[in-house]
Amino acid sequence: MAKGKKPLVVVTRKLPDSVETRMRELFDTQLNLDDRPMSQAALADAVKVADVLVPTVTDRIDASILSQSGEKLRLIANFGNGVDNIDVATAVQRGITVTNTPRVLTEDTADMTMALILAVPRRLAEGLEILEHGKWQGWSPTWMLGHRIWGKRLGIIGMGRIGQAVARRARAFGMAIHYHNRRRVAPKIEEALEATYWDSLDQMLARMDIISVNCPHTPATYHLLSARRLKLIRPEAYLVNTARGEVIDEKALTQLIEAGEIAGAGLDVFEHEPALNPKLVKLARAGKVVILPHMGSATMEGRIDMGDKVIINIRTFMDGHKPPDRVLPSML
Ligand code: 8YV
Repeated sequence: MAKGKKPLVVVTRKLPDSVETRMRELFDTQLNLDDRPMSQAALADAVKVADVLVPTVTDRIDASILSQSGEKLRLIANFGNGVDNIDVATAVQRGITVTNTPRVLTEDTADMTMALILAVPRRLAEGLEILEHGKWQGWSPTWMLGHRIWGKRLGIIGMGRIGQAVARRARAFGMAIHYHNRRRVAPKIEEALEATYWDSLDQMLARMDIISVNCPHTPATYHLLSARRLKLIRPEAYLVNTARGEVIDEKALTQLIEAGEIAGAGLDVFEHEPALNPKLVKLARAGKVVILPHMGSATMEGRIDMGDKVIINIRTFMDGHKPPDRVLPSML
Protein backbone atom coordinates (compact mmCIF):
# COMPACT_ATOMS: atom_id res chain seq x y z
CA MET A 1 0.00 0.00 0.00
CA ALA A 2 1.32 3.44 -0.92
CA LYS A 3 2.81 5.37 2.00
CA GLY A 4 0.38 7.78 3.64
CA LYS A 5 -2.61 6.17 1.95
CA LYS A 6 -5.37 5.12 4.32
CA PRO A 7 -6.33 1.43 4.23
CA LEU A 8 -9.80 0.48 3.03
CA VAL A 9 -11.47 -1.18 5.98
CA VAL A 10 -14.67 -3.07 5.17
CA VAL A 11 -16.87 -3.63 8.22
CA THR A 12 -19.56 -6.26 7.70
CA ARG A 13 -22.08 -5.19 10.38
CA LYS A 14 -23.23 -2.01 12.10
CA LEU A 15 -20.96 -1.21 15.05
CA PRO A 16 -21.56 1.32 17.88
CA ASP A 17 -21.55 4.90 16.56
CA SER A 18 -18.44 5.94 18.49
CA VAL A 19 -16.48 3.02 17.00
CA GLU A 20 -17.63 3.84 13.47
CA THR A 21 -16.79 7.53 13.94
CA ARG A 22 -13.26 6.70 15.06
CA MET A 23 -12.84 4.26 12.19
CA ARG A 24 -13.96 6.94 9.73
CA GLU A 25 -11.36 9.33 11.15
CA LEU A 26 -8.56 6.81 10.86
CA PHE A 27 -9.34 4.74 7.79
CA ASP A 28 -11.17 4.71 4.49
CA THR A 29 -14.23 2.78 5.55
CA GLN A 30 -17.00 0.83 3.99
CA LEU A 31 -19.55 0.48 6.79
CA ASN A 32 -22.82 -1.40 6.95
CA LEU A 33 -25.07 1.25 8.42
CA ASP A 34 -28.34 -0.62 7.89
CA ASP A 35 -26.81 -3.77 9.42
CA ARG A 36 -28.05 -6.25 6.86
CA PRO A 37 -25.97 -9.44 7.16
CA MET A 38 -23.79 -9.84 4.06
CA SER A 39 -24.35 -12.76 1.69
CA GLN A 40 -21.41 -14.98 0.70
CA ALA A 41 -21.41 -13.17 -2.68
CA ALA A 42 -21.18 -9.77 -0.93
CA LEU A 43 -18.36 -11.06 1.26
CA ALA A 44 -16.51 -12.31 -1.82
CA ASP A 45 -16.83 -8.83 -3.34
CA ALA A 46 -15.59 -7.28 -0.09
CA VAL A 47 -12.42 -9.35 0.13
CA LYS A 48 -11.54 -8.41 -3.45
CA VAL A 49 -11.30 -4.70 -2.61
CA ALA A 50 -10.54 -4.47 1.11
CA ASP A 51 -7.14 -3.97 2.73
CA VAL A 52 -8.73 -4.98 6.02
CA LEU A 53 -11.92 -6.94 6.62
CA VAL A 54 -13.77 -6.61 9.94
CA PRO A 55 -16.20 -9.53 10.11
CA THR A 56 -18.34 -10.82 12.97
CA VAL A 57 -19.65 -14.18 14.08
CA THR A 58 -22.39 -13.99 11.42
CA ASP A 59 -19.91 -13.97 8.49
CA ARG A 60 -18.50 -17.23 7.21
CA ILE A 61 -15.01 -16.44 5.98
CA ASP A 62 -14.24 -19.87 4.57
CA ALA A 63 -11.65 -21.13 2.09
CA SER A 64 -13.91 -20.32 -0.84
CA ILE A 65 -14.25 -16.66 0.21
CA LEU A 66 -10.54 -16.42 0.98
CA SER A 67 -9.64 -17.86 -2.44
CA GLN A 68 -11.37 -14.85 -3.99
CA SER A 69 -9.46 -12.29 -1.95
CA GLY A 70 -7.33 -9.84 -3.82
CA GLU A 71 -3.68 -8.96 -3.31
CA LYS A 72 -4.76 -6.11 -1.05
CA LEU A 73 -6.36 -8.08 1.75
CA ARG A 74 -3.70 -8.38 4.47
CA LEU A 75 -5.70 -8.37 7.70
CA ILE A 76 -8.92 -9.89 8.99
CA ALA A 77 -9.64 -8.08 12.26
CA ASN A 78 -12.52 -10.10 13.69
CA PHE A 79 -15.03 -8.20 15.82
CA GLY A 80 -15.39 -11.06 18.28
CA ASN A 81 -13.38 -13.40 20.44
CA GLY A 82 -14.32 -16.71 18.81
CA VAL A 83 -12.80 -17.19 15.37
CA ASP A 84 -14.71 -20.28 14.29
CA ASN A 85 -16.32 -18.13 11.59
CA ILE A 86 -12.91 -17.83 9.89
CA ASP A 87 -10.76 -20.47 8.23
CA VAL A 88 -7.67 -19.22 10.06
CA ALA A 89 -5.28 -21.82 8.59
CA THR A 90 -6.20 -20.90 5.01
CA ALA A 91 -6.01 -17.18 5.78
CA VAL A 92 -2.54 -17.51 7.29
CA GLN A 93 -1.41 -19.67 4.37
CA ARG A 94 -2.44 -16.86 2.06
CA GLY A 95 -0.38 -14.41 4.11
CA ILE A 96 -3.39 -12.80 5.77
CA THR A 97 -3.09 -11.93 9.46
CA VAL A 98 -6.09 -12.70 11.67
CA THR A 99 -6.88 -10.93 14.96
CA ASN A 100 -9.72 -11.18 17.48
CA THR A 101 -10.98 -9.29 20.55
CA PRO A 102 -10.09 -11.31 23.66
CA ARG A 103 -10.42 -10.20 27.31
CA VAL A 104 -12.92 -7.37 26.82
CA LEU A 105 -15.96 -9.67 26.79
CA THR A 106 -14.87 -12.04 29.54
CA GLU A 107 -16.80 -10.50 32.42
CA ASP A 108 -19.98 -9.84 30.42
CA THR A 109 -20.09 -13.41 29.11
CA ALA A 110 -19.43 -14.77 32.60
CA ASP A 111 -22.29 -12.63 33.95
CA MET A 112 -24.64 -14.10 31.37
CA THR A 113 -23.46 -17.61 32.18
CA MET A 114 -24.17 -16.98 35.85
CA ALA A 115 -27.57 -15.55 34.94
CA LEU A 116 -28.43 -18.81 33.16
CA ILE A 117 -27.01 -20.91 36.01
CA LEU A 118 -29.47 -19.10 38.28
CA ALA A 119 -32.36 -18.81 35.83
CA VAL A 120 -32.88 -22.48 35.01
CA PRO A 121 -32.92 -24.15 38.46
CA ARG A 122 -34.77 -21.17 39.99
CA ARG A 123 -37.39 -21.09 37.19
CA LEU A 124 -37.04 -17.38 36.37
CA ALA A 125 -38.53 -17.50 32.89
CA GLU A 126 -41.50 -19.58 34.08
CA GLY A 127 -42.25 -17.08 36.83
CA LEU A 128 -42.18 -14.21 34.38
CA GLU A 129 -44.42 -16.07 31.96
CA ILE A 130 -47.01 -16.72 34.67
CA LEU A 131 -47.25 -13.04 35.55
CA GLU A 132 -47.28 -11.88 31.95
CA HIS A 133 -50.22 -14.15 31.19
CA GLY A 134 -52.18 -13.21 34.31
CA LYS A 135 -51.92 -16.76 35.64
CA TRP A 136 -50.81 -15.96 39.21
CA GLN A 137 -53.38 -17.02 41.76
CA GLY A 138 -51.27 -16.17 44.79
CA TRP A 139 -48.42 -17.57 46.83
CA SER A 140 -48.36 -21.18 47.93
CA PRO A 141 -45.69 -23.02 49.96
CA THR A 142 -45.39 -25.88 47.48
CA TRP A 143 -45.66 -23.93 44.26
CA MET A 144 -42.88 -22.95 41.81
CA LEU A 145 -40.21 -24.79 43.74
CA GLY A 146 -36.88 -24.81 42.00
CA HIS A 147 -33.55 -26.15 43.18
CA ARG A 148 -30.92 -24.62 45.45
CA ILE A 149 -27.73 -23.27 43.89
CA TRP A 150 -25.67 -23.10 47.11
CA GLY A 151 -23.61 -26.22 47.74
CA LYS A 152 -24.03 -27.61 44.23
CA ARG A 153 -21.20 -28.88 42.05
CA LEU A 154 -20.48 -26.80 38.95
CA GLY A 155 -18.51 -28.51 36.18
CA ILE A 156 -16.87 -25.99 33.86
CA ILE A 157 -15.78 -27.24 30.46
CA GLY A 158 -13.02 -24.90 29.30
CA MET A 159 -11.13 -23.13 32.07
CA GLY A 160 -9.84 -20.19 30.06
CA ARG A 161 -10.54 -16.57 30.86
CA ILE A 162 -14.33 -16.90 30.71
CA GLY A 163 -14.38 -20.24 32.55
CA GLN A 164 -12.35 -18.73 35.37
CA ALA A 165 -14.58 -15.67 35.53
CA VAL A 166 -17.61 -17.98 35.81
CA ALA A 167 -15.84 -19.92 38.58
CA ARG A 168 -15.20 -16.71 40.56
CA ARG A 169 -18.88 -15.81 40.41
CA ALA A 170 -20.10 -19.33 41.17
CA ARG A 171 -17.90 -19.50 44.26
CA ALA A 172 -19.64 -16.41 45.61
CA PHE A 173 -22.90 -18.34 45.21
CA GLY A 174 -21.51 -21.20 47.29
CA MET A 175 -20.90 -23.65 44.47
CA ALA A 176 -18.06 -26.18 44.42
CA ILE A 177 -15.90 -25.65 41.34
CA HIS A 178 -14.88 -28.55 39.11
CA TYR A 179 -13.40 -28.25 35.65
CA HIS A 180 -12.15 -30.04 32.59
CA ASN A 181 -9.69 -28.36 30.28
CA ARG A 182 -7.17 -29.32 27.62
CA ARG A 183 -4.46 -28.47 30.11
CA ARG A 184 -4.63 -28.30 33.86
CA VAL A 185 -4.47 -24.64 34.94
CA ALA A 186 -1.68 -23.30 37.16
CA PRO A 187 -1.82 -24.50 40.81
CA LYS A 188 -2.13 -20.86 41.92
CA ILE A 189 -5.38 -20.47 39.94
CA GLU A 190 -6.73 -23.84 41.11
CA GLU A 191 -6.04 -22.89 44.72
CA ALA A 192 -7.64 -19.46 44.42
CA LEU A 193 -10.78 -20.99 42.94
CA GLU A 194 -10.61 -24.14 45.08
CA ALA A 195 -11.17 -25.90 41.78
CA THR A 196 -10.98 -29.65 41.23
CA TYR A 197 -9.47 -30.75 37.92
CA TRP A 198 -10.96 -33.67 36.03
CA ASP A 199 -8.73 -35.18 33.39
CA SER A 200 -11.67 -37.28 32.26
CA LEU A 201 -14.57 -35.23 30.93
CA ASP A 202 -16.76 -38.35 31.05
CA GLN A 203 -16.19 -38.80 34.76
CA MET A 204 -16.80 -35.15 35.52
CA LEU A 205 -20.05 -35.08 33.55
CA ALA A 206 -21.42 -38.01 35.53
CA ARG A 207 -20.94 -36.24 38.85
CA MET A 208 -21.98 -32.61 38.32
CA ASP A 209 -25.19 -30.78 39.28
CA ILE A 210 -24.69 -28.00 36.76
CA ILE A 211 -22.39 -28.06 33.73
CA SER A 212 -21.24 -24.91 31.98
CA VAL A 213 -19.71 -24.93 28.50
CA ASN A 214 -17.02 -22.24 28.21
CA CYS A 215 -14.62 -23.60 25.62
CA PRO A 216 -14.13 -22.29 22.09
CA HIS A 217 -15.56 -24.11 19.09
CA THR A 218 -12.71 -25.73 17.17
CA PRO A 219 -12.55 -28.95 15.15
CA ALA A 220 -11.53 -30.69 18.40
CA THR A 221 -14.54 -29.42 20.38
CA TYR A 222 -17.22 -29.92 17.73
CA HIS A 223 -19.88 -32.07 19.46
CA LEU A 224 -17.56 -32.50 22.44
CA LEU A 225 -20.82 -33.10 24.28
CA SER A 226 -21.87 -35.91 21.94
CA ALA A 227 -24.99 -38.03 22.44
CA ARG A 228 -22.85 -40.58 24.28
CA ARG A 229 -21.40 -38.01 26.66
CA LEU A 230 -24.71 -36.24 27.23
CA LYS A 231 -26.12 -39.58 28.42
CA LEU A 232 -23.56 -39.54 31.24
CA ILE A 233 -25.14 -36.42 32.75
CA ARG A 234 -27.35 -37.06 35.80
CA PRO A 235 -31.13 -36.67 35.32
CA GLU A 236 -31.17 -33.97 38.05
CA ALA A 237 -28.45 -31.93 36.36
CA TYR A 238 -28.64 -28.79 34.22
CA LEU A 239 -26.49 -27.75 31.28
CA VAL A 240 -25.60 -24.15 30.41
CA ASN A 241 -23.97 -23.02 27.17
CA THR A 242 -22.78 -19.49 26.44
CA ALA A 243 -19.89 -20.60 24.20
CA ARG A 244 -20.94 -22.06 20.85
CA GLY A 245 -23.87 -24.24 19.87
CA GLU A 246 -21.64 -26.57 17.87
CA VAL A 247 -19.93 -27.85 21.03
CA ILE A 248 -23.12 -29.74 21.96
CA ASP A 249 -25.06 -32.27 19.89
CA GLU A 250 -28.17 -30.15 20.17
CA LYS A 251 -30.55 -32.76 18.79
CA ALA A 252 -29.39 -35.31 21.36
CA LEU A 253 -29.60 -32.73 24.17
CA THR A 254 -33.16 -31.83 23.15
CA GLN A 255 -34.18 -35.50 23.15
CA LEU A 256 -32.62 -36.13 26.56
CA ILE A 257 -34.41 -33.15 28.11
CA GLU A 258 -37.69 -34.24 26.49
CA ALA A 259 -37.18 -37.71 27.95
CA GLY A 260 -36.44 -36.30 31.43
CA GLU A 261 -32.91 -37.68 31.34
CA ILE A 262 -31.40 -34.19 31.81
CA ALA A 263 -33.33 -31.75 34.02
CA GLY A 264 -32.94 -28.69 31.84
CA ALA A 265 -30.66 -26.28 30.05
CA GLY A 266 -29.81 -22.61 29.70
CA LEU A 267 -28.72 -21.86 26.15
CA ASP A 268 -27.46 -18.58 24.74
CA VAL A 269 -26.03 -20.21 21.61
CA PHE A 270 -27.36 -22.77 19.13
CA GLU A 271 -26.04 -25.14 16.56
CA HIS A 272 -27.70 -23.52 13.54
CA GLU A 273 -28.08 -19.88 14.58
CA PRO A 274 -30.29 -18.00 14.04
CA ALA A 275 -32.46 -21.04 13.27
CA LEU A 276 -33.89 -22.63 16.40
CA ASN A 277 -34.92 -26.23 16.86
CA PRO A 278 -38.73 -25.89 17.37
CA LYS A 279 -38.50 -28.61 20.02
CA LEU A 280 -36.24 -26.35 22.09
CA VAL A 281 -38.81 -23.57 21.84
CA LYS A 282 -41.44 -26.04 23.06
CA LEU A 283 -39.19 -27.03 25.96
CA ALA A 284 -38.73 -23.35 26.78
CA ARG A 285 -42.51 -22.94 26.94
CA ALA A 286 -42.63 -25.95 29.24
CA GLY A 287 -40.06 -24.28 31.52
CA LYS A 288 -37.38 -26.90 30.89
CA VAL A 289 -34.95 -24.64 29.09
CA VAL A 290 -34.15 -20.95 29.09
CA ILE A 291 -33.12 -19.74 25.65
CA LEU A 292 -31.46 -16.45 24.75
CA PRO A 293 -30.49 -15.07 21.33
CA HIS A 294 -26.65 -15.11 21.55
CA MET A 295 -26.39 -12.09 23.82
CA GLY A 296 -23.66 -13.22 26.22
CA SER A 297 -21.34 -10.34 25.43
CA ALA A 298 -24.05 -7.90 24.37
CA THR A 299 -23.34 -4.86 26.53
CA MET A 300 -22.80 -1.36 25.22
CA GLU A 301 -19.50 -1.17 27.10
CA GLY A 302 -18.36 -4.52 25.76
CA ARG A 303 -19.15 -3.68 22.15
CA ILE A 304 -17.26 -0.36 22.40
CA ASP A 305 -14.28 -2.15 23.97
CA MET A 306 -14.40 -4.74 21.19
CA GLY A 307 -14.43 -1.94 18.61
CA ASP A 308 -11.46 -0.25 20.30
CA LYS A 309 -9.57 -3.53 20.17
CA VAL A 310 -10.32 -3.94 16.47
CA ILE A 311 -9.01 -0.40 15.84
CA ILE A 312 -5.82 -1.03 17.84
CA ASN A 313 -5.22 -4.26 15.94
CA ILE A 314 -5.67 -2.50 12.59
CA ARG A 315 -3.48 0.46 13.52
CA THR A 316 -0.66 -1.64 14.93
CA PHE A 317 -0.72 -3.83 11.87
CA MET A 318 -0.75 -0.84 9.50
CA ASP A 319 2.19 0.64 11.38
CA GLY A 320 4.13 -2.49 10.50
CA HIS A 321 4.01 -4.20 13.91
CA LYS A 322 2.52 -7.45 15.09
CA PRO A 323 -1.01 -6.67 16.26
CA PRO A 324 -1.64 -7.52 19.93
CA ASP A 325 -4.44 -10.01 19.34
CA ARG A 326 -3.01 -12.11 16.53
CA VAL A 327 -4.62 -15.54 16.16
CA LEU A 328 -2.40 -18.36 14.94
CA PRO A 329 -3.64 -21.77 13.79
CA SER A 330 -1.54 -23.36 16.55
CA MET A 331 -3.68 -21.58 19.18
CA LEU A 332 -6.86 -23.29 18.01
C1 8YV B 1 -19.98 -11.88 19.97
C2 8YV B 1 -18.96 -14.13 20.69
O1 8YV B 1 -21.26 -11.42 20.09
O2 8YV B 1 -16.96 -12.92 20.59
C3 8YV B 1 -17.49 -14.00 20.55
O3 8YV B 1 -16.87 -15.04 20.36
O4 8YV B 1 -19.49 -15.17 20.69
C4 8YV B 1 -19.92 -13.03 20.89
O5 8YV B 1 -19.93 -12.71 22.23
C5 8YV B 1 -19.70 -12.18 18.53
O6 8YV B 1 -18.70 -13.08 18.32
C6 8YV B 1 -19.37 -10.96 17.75
O7 8YV B 1 -18.77 -11.28 16.53
